[in-house]
Amino acid sequence: MAERCALVTGGVGGIGTAICAALVRDGCRVVASYAPFEAQVVGDWQRERQGEGLTVEVVEMEVTDFASCGKAVADVEARVAPIAVLVNNAGITKDGMFKKMALDQWNAVLTTNLDSVFNVTRHVINGMLERSYGRIVNISSINGQKGQFGQTNYSAAKAGMHGFTMALAQEVASKGITVNTVSPGYTGTRMVMAIEESVRNKIIEQIPVKRLARPEEIARLVAFLAHEDSGFITGANVPINGGQFMT
Ligand code: CAA
Repeated sequence: MAERCALVTGGVGGIGTAICAALVRDGCRVVASYAPFEAQVVGDWQRERQGEGLTVEVVEMEVTDFASCGKAVADVEARVAPIAVLVNNAGITKDGMFKKMALDQWNAVLTTNLDSVFNVTRHVINGMLERSYGRIVNISSINGQKGQFGQTNYSAAKAGMHGFTMALAQEVASKGITVNTVSPGYTGTRMVMAIEESVRNKIIEQIPVKRLARPEEIARLVAFLAHEDSGFITGANVPINGGQFMT
């Protein structure tokens, strides 16, 4: 098969960067989407990848905005190639106990983590259907599977992502398109390092492997599901959490 074009949303973040690298190494032409507020850092980010011998294109995309996603997808498909692999990875946290949660905290997390999956995938899916090929990987979380104290917003959005995965997987399975969820546990990124240290240490104690995941470990699984040989895995929710939650 010709070189596949892969779009990774939130591509310049912790797990996103590792996913971009893994997909380039797997022979994809990778485009990382970045949010408007990341415009200042994206040039350095791209040069760092170049320094590692990895060519990654970038595109600005506000994942909470349907029109912005449409414009970015059209730009990628014109400039690079039709999208064969989509990784819905963009996400944020705004933790707090529900009894104190503001509407803004709820809306920001639901819009960025769940509405984004509609906003991007809707612009990509018809092209995949026309070409009878696609790999979609949605990056959810262990906390979408088990719930997490202080994360009603995040857990709801991440559980919602897998509902989306299972429904869309059924609609497109006969057209050569797979849709899967990856549910990482606590990973050594800025998002997790932002948790107060004593709270974070208590979480690590609960992980049988006794450490955080490395972003590269998550990326390896994503690249596996995104590979053309993985066509019989669809609608799955694959955990990668050091044994912290077993289903
Ligand atoms: N289970 C039961 N009780 C808990 C608890 C838990 N997991 N965590 C805290 N509590 C209790 C505390 O012991 C405390 O009890 P007392 O009032 O009796 O002392 C009470 O709840 C309030 O706790 P805090 O003092 O911590 O309250 P806070 O308002 O300052 O902070 C919080 C609340 C923001 C939720 C904070 O506890 C926190 O950051 N928790 C971690 C949340 C988390 O795991 N986030 C994951 C972010 S990374 C990510 O999301 C990536 C991914 O996909 C894995």
